[in-house]
Amino acid sequence: MEHPVTPFEFKSADSTIALLRDPYRFVSRRSAELGEAVFETRLLLRRTTCMTGAEAAGVFYDPARFQRAGAAPPPLQKTLFGQGGVQGLDGEHHRQRKAMFLQINHPDRVEALADVVTREWERAVADWAAPDQVDLYPEVQRLLTRAVCEWAGAPLSEAEVDLRTRQLTALFDAAGDVGLGHLRSRAARRAAERWAADLIEQIRSGQLAVPSSSAASVIANHQEPDGRPMAPRVAAVELLNVLRPTVATAVYIIFVAHALEANPAWRERLAQGDGAEDMAFIEEVRRTYPFFPAVTAIVHEAFQWRGHDFPEGRRVLLDLYGTNRDPRAWEDPERFDPERFLGDDRDPFAFVPQGGGDPAVHHRCPGEPISTRLMGIALDQLVRHLTYTPVRPAAPIDYRRLPALPKGGYRIQNISPRH
Ligand code: HEM
Repeated sequence: MEHPVTPFEFKSADSTIALLRDPYRFVSRRSAELGEAVFETRLLLRRTTCMTGAEAAGVFYDPARFQRAGAAPPPLQKTLFGQGGVQGLDGEHHRQRKAMFLQINHPDRVEALADVVTREWERAVADWAAPDQVDLYPEVQRLLTRAVCEWAGAPLSEAEVDLRTRQLTALFDAAGDVGLGHLRSRAARRAAERWAADLIEQIRSGQLAVPSSSAASVIANHQEPDGRPMAPRVAAVELLNVLRPTVATAVYIIFVAHALEANPAWRERLAQGDGAEDMAFIEEVRRTYPFFPAVTAIVHEAFQWRGHDFPEGRRVLLDLYGTNRDPRAWEDPERFDPERFLGDDRDPFAFVPQGGGDPAVHHRCPGEPISTRLMGIALDQLVRHLTYTPVRPAAPIDYRRLPALPKGGYRIQNISPRH
């Protein structure tokens, strides 16, 4: 096992500040400078090996070499992830818990969510006709919160919608903050876990009746490998693992709006088309826009790769953003070109916006069918059901923010339904 580094070593060679300054591009830029897909540094006082590119992703997703227990940075456990959830499990326990998410996100259930989300878009659009301007990011967070809570069996009263939207958003939107933002995110996690644990207990006791296919019911009734239900706090973490990232799809939806504006010829092509090319546009948004910068794991069994030692206990960080733009796998990677997704299938480890590998076996996100479906609904609304004008020309993306967003947000005006 590795020893923690001393404060002196930390001062001399820690890259934490460089990573915080440029969380999406730090690894790929350093890797390009060094001419290597893998390099060692120190992050948050720990020796860390950083890797980028499709080949590195293939190595990273080998469960024989890596484990996730103990890999998540503690500040993110207290905000984004919570404790005891699927992200930190390994082996058979992980596979069992993961099967629960694949059941929750079964294709029929994705379509059921799509129906509720479409209805909420229509309701929101009717409200947007009145104000001068609409700030799209918070509006989409609210409509997704309403929809996902209804669909997941976590019913909200009208008076609760704003509170739950703020809480679920603070879990991802302020998770990377330091100082006050971080404290706000921790407080949101405590409150949201209390609420979700209470729902689970109400379902288990029969006080709250929800459909058996809903996420809350599946989680409340899930059996662990020892045959027992999850502790209410852990079940709450898993319910939030469905609600939080569905609301976080608001970030991708802002990127869809931004990309439509930045690529008017594509906007026109999609408006004239029958929807067959929508998914190519969405995939190119997921490839090029910065959302989830990197994932971490711990070396479980020592090995060597590309002349580098990976000793047991070493933390390893895989660069997702840079892998999606790696010039070894993508021609002219900086160019926004949805046509690259109209062709054949590609290397599954070259396109990793939500992780790589097989979602049933590896830690790859089980929510991709949901995020891409909800992005598709937003694209359809923005291109075919609404007329609007952006308040300002599309602002550049703020790469220092986590998650990144256009500087100053994304506001639209003169909104009306297209007849
Ligand atoms: C908003 C868009 C989303 C992004 C950018 C995103 C991104 C990611 C990433 C990068 C991972 C980690 C992969 C890894 O550790 O190797 C992940 C895991 C996960 N995501 Fe998503 N996700 C999104 C939406 C969703 C949705 C809609 C759901 C559920 C409804 C979801 C549920 C999960 C869960 C439960 C995990 C943990 C999987 C595991 O550890 O095995 N995500 N996601």
